[in-house]
Amino acid sequence: MQKKLKTLTLALLVAGCTGSQKPAIDEPTLKEVFNDDFTIGTALSADQIEGKDAAADSLVRKQFNVLTAENSMKSMFLQPEWGKFDFALGDKLVEYARQNNMQVIGHTLIWHSQLPSYAQGMTSKDSVQTFFRDHIQTVASRYDQKILGWDVVNEALNEDGTIRSTVFQRLLGDDYVTEAFRLAQQAAPDTELYYNDYNIEQPAKRAGAVRLIRQIREAGVRIDGVGIQGHWHAGKVPLKDIEDSILEYAALGIKVMITELDLEVLPRDFTGAEISQRMKDPADPSLNPYTSGLPDSVQTQLATDYEALFKLFLKHKDKISRVTFWGVNDGQSWLNGWPLPGRTNYPLLFDREYQPKPAYYKVIDAKKN
Ligand code: G3I
Repeated sequence: MQKKLKTLTLALLVAGCTGSQKPAIDEPTLKEVFNDDFTIGTALSADQIEGKDAAADSLVRKQFNVLTAENSMKSMFLQPEWGKFDFALGDKLVEYARQNNMQVIGHTLIWHSQLPSYAQGMTSKDSVQTFFRDHIQTVASRYDQKILGWDVVNEALNEDGTIRSTVFQRLLGDDYVTEAFRLAQQAAPDTELYYNDYNIEQPAKRAGAVRLIRQIREAGVRIDGVGIQGHWHAGKVPLKDIEDSILEYAALGIKVMITELDLEVLPRDFTGAEISQRMKDPADPSLNPYTSGLPDSVQTQLATDYEALFKLFLKHKDKISRVTFWGVNDGQSWLNGWPLPGRTNYPLLFDREYQPKPAYYKVIDAKKN
């Protein structure tokens, strides 16, 4: 009887829920519902890490059990001047997680984007090698035994699966990826090491990621997992490619994680998360259609897509160790500012008032049905 009442309450919530719907206090939260399946993560902004966002703080503590710094542990922030490290926010995140019995994922040791300005312009192999080695050694060793894992290398692949041309690839060669894992393994023997990228559920890029993972292992270097970022589009979520990828990566004997999940609802003329990419006609006003709220049809599409995704994740819960959302609520999402600044986007489970959206209840339902 009690179970029936609970199901009815949830059904009513999903059917009638709007952005202002209050969460049912006694309902189990995301981390509780999926406790036996995988951890549930979120990305925190610098303000959130600093405790300046009380509403986010209370939501994060209820709903999530693993945290990633959205930006604060990238090299431009950790080593703003060459040889001078700033661990203030990284340390704060680790302490916040410790106090709340949560895990931390380091994001990210080596990425060609958000490099400190002095590193972007490096032209000598010697300088790049020194920065590369010192950054990995200093940062990875500082957080060993304090965090669960590192995204050791982020976004090293082109869409066709070849190695992307970056300052690291050009001056250190394609092997830089393996070298990054080798250095991380030495500096952080007790930390899991991951490769993280977007669109690596797509066949050509996936084949490149599989090659990369094999190369790392054939060199005798440890890699523990792969992060499929999960920046997808509502109404166009590539479920078959995602399932194929989960199976293919898991068959390599490594952990599979969804690491930056969000579902774009606004018009876009390309997919993925290439930060340098821009819309073809940025002045077109139809590119920002939902400034005064999300239409029911789109809200329903978003909820249906999230439910399908979580049903798939549950089907493969033996292979998936973590699902992390890229942000706490819609207001924080990077998708409000990219690939066009100033848009109103709705890609997450919590709205701008930190209230659960219909998609949230559908995700919870995915576990029940
Ligand atoms: O640091 C400056 C600050 O000094 C300045 O006052 C402020 C003014 O806008 O900008 C700050 O930099 C911003 C930075 O985030 C830190 O807040 C950049 O403009 C902004 O472009 C940058 O965006 C981040 C983006 O990575 C950069 O590549 C997003 O917040 C972050 O969500 C996004 O995350 C990436 C993952 O790391 C990797 N995968 C793709 C994902 C989405 O792009």
